[in-house]
Amino acid sequence: MSKIEIIKAKRAGFCFGVKRAINIAFKIAEESKKVFTFGPLIHNPQVIQKLIEAGVIPTEDIDKIEKEPLIIRSHGIPLDLKKKLLQKGLRIIDATCPFVRRAQKYAQLLSEEGYQVVILGDEEHPEVKSLVSYGGERAIVLDSEYDIKKLINRKKLGVVVQTTQPTSFLREFTSTVIGYVKELKVYNTICNSTVLRQKETKEIAEKVDLMLIIGGKNSANTTQLAKLCSNLSVKTYHIETASELQQEWLKNIKKIGLSAGASTPEWIINDVIERIRYIGGNGNNG
Ligand code: F3S
Repeated sequence: MSKIEIIKAKRAGFCFGVKRAINIAFKIAEESKKVFTFGPLIHNPQVIQKLIEAGVIPTEDIDKIEKEPLIIRSHGIPLDLKKKLLQKGLRIIDATCPFVRRAQKYAQLLSEEGYQVVILGDEEHPEVKSLVSYGGERAIVLDSEYDIKKLINRKKLGVVVQTTQPTSFLREFTSTVIGYVKELKVYNTICNSTVLRQKETKEIAEKVDLMLIIGGKNSANTTQLAKLCSNLSVKTYHIETASELQQEWLKNIKKIGLSAGASTPEWIINDVIERIRYIGGNGNNG
C-alpha cells in the first residue's frame, strides 16, 4: 500500500464552549473532590470516562446530590429544572455555552414579543429541550423533515436554531416558510465554530477519496459532519475511536480527510492518525 496523504481539518476537535465546560469541571473537581454534572458534560464517552476518574460524575437523579456542586453542561437545561435545582438549595455552577445562552435569550424574547416560537433542531437533544422551555408554551421544534402544514395560518413566526445545525437547513427553511406566514423574525443562532467547522470539512471532503469523522456517536454536531460528507457522495465513516478503523477501508485510498466534532479530544484524533499511518504502512494491527 503506498503512503496515504492525510488532510486534517484545522478546526477538528474541542470548540470554545466544550473547552470551557471541561476546564470548569476539572477545576471544581480539584477543589471539591466530587462534583456532579446534570447528564454527561459533553457527548463523548471517552472524555466522560476521564472526567469520572477525576471525580466528575454525570447524573440526572438530583435526589442523589447532597452537598456536592452541580455543573450545568454546555447544552444548558430547561428553565423549570433550573428552578427546581435552585429550590433544592444546590450549589450550581453554570457551564452553559454563552452561544447556547444567547439562543435561549432570543427564544424567550420572541415569546415575550408574541411570536409563535419555532426551534429548528433535534427535539431529543438537551440543548433543544432547554430552548423549548425558553420559547414559551406554544414553542414547537422542527427538524429538516418538517411538515410545512404545521405553520400555515400562523401570523407571527419567530425562529431560533440549535447551535449545531447546518446553515443550509436555516436557509432552506426561511426561504420556504416566508411564503406561508405574514411575519417572520429569524435569529441565526448557529454558532460560528459550527459554521466554520462544517465549511472546512466540506472543502476537505471535496478533494479526498475517504472522509473519517471522529467523535461520539451521540454527538449531534459530529453526526451532522458525517451527514454533510455523505451527502457529497464521498465515502464517509463516523468513528468514535481509532479501534474502529478497518484496514479494508484504506484499500486504493490515496487521500484521507479527517474532521472531528466539537467534543472530540485531540488525543483521540492523534490515535486515529497514528493508526492510519500504521495500517497504511502495511502494519498488521488492522
Ligand atoms: Fe458552544 Fe458552539 Fe461549542 S454553541 S458548545 S461553541 S459548538
